[in-house]
Amino acid sequence: MDGSIIEHTPVLAGTLAEQIKLPSDGVMVDATIGQGGHSLLLGKTLGPEAVIVGLDVDKNAVRRAQIKLKELACKVIVLNSNFSRIGEELSGLGIEKVDLILADLGISSVQLADSGFGLSFQTNMPLDMRIDKRLKRTAADIINKSDEKTLADLIYEFGQDRASRRIARFIVRQREIEPIKTTGQLAQIVCRAFSKTKRGRRSRIHPATRTFQALRIAVNDELENLKKLLASTANLLKTNGYIAVISFHSLEDRLVKNDFRENGKSGIYRIVTKKPIVPTREEIKENRRARSAKLRIAQKQ
Ligand SMILES: C[S@@+](CC[C@H](N)C(=O)[O-])C[C@H]1O[C@@H](n2cnc3c(N)ncnc32)[C@H](O)[C@@H]1O
Repeated sequence: MDGSIIEHTPVLAGTLAEQIKLPSDGVMVDATIGQGGHSLLLGKTLGPEAVIVGLDVDKNAVRRAQIKLKELACKVIVLNSNFSRIGEELSGLGIEKVDLILADLGISSVQLADSGFGLSFQTNMPLDMRIDKRLKRTAADIINKSDEKTLADLIYEFGQDRASRRIARFIVRQREIEPIKTTGQLAQIVCRAFSKTKRGRRSRIHPATRTFQALRIAVNDELENLKKLLASTANLLKTNGYIAVISFHSLEDRLVKNDFRENGKSGIYRIVTKKPIVPTREEIKENRRARSAKLRIAQKQ
């Protein structure tokens, strides 16, 4: 599937456009360009002298964003690259400083629905989870090859699931019978681990949600990449330039909050959002993916 049927609705896009005013000849980096939704909205305020540099690890997203952003007056350069390499990519383009770095973390609705990514527990897909297909290790490799303790630690650390040991035990028991190759198999195993418990009967979220989150973070090295992006940002922003990050779980949000706080203390950033901005009830009703989003913005002093 090429993703042309599923649309991705950008989260908190209106709020972002209200908060951030770019000069008409500004330079912005959309570090997670995805379907180009945020860039399209912000790019409409930019003139022909302005530049948008987009990055994405998914080469199909790069292609789709390039097409979507063709209508803009400004220059658009989209690279198939990891945002952990933002400094190298900008210097390769001869760009020293920018007016905005935006990161809308995680995955798009298009990727979630695409069986080539193997991310969904709602539909049965090969258990892959690599957003960047240049990566070597899939989620199936981790699930079938890691020892029980490593699995439990991973589910605990990246999934924040207190039942991590129980889940790991069920996974190891099942993979002795047959290898776990699909998202459906894994989701069923996790459900079975909870079938006789309160969580199995009453949980608000699918019992496998946290295990899937943990695996996706591990496969794509998401937290380390975010740390590298945050560490590069202050040096790449012009005075009064913005860093804006939309995160979808507390592990990401904590990294952003702490980075802004540290840079705030040393006078490098002014924190624009004292508390993170969250979507309205209306936005969540229209776009369920928005329900856990948090937007934080800081401005270089
Ligand atoms: C939530 S989507 C972004 C959607 C986009 N803001 C829009 O409006 O269409 C996140 C995107 O970030 C990409 N991504 C995730 N981690 C990345 C990384 N470390 N470097 C670059 N892109 C990344 C994903 O492939 C995905 O396309």
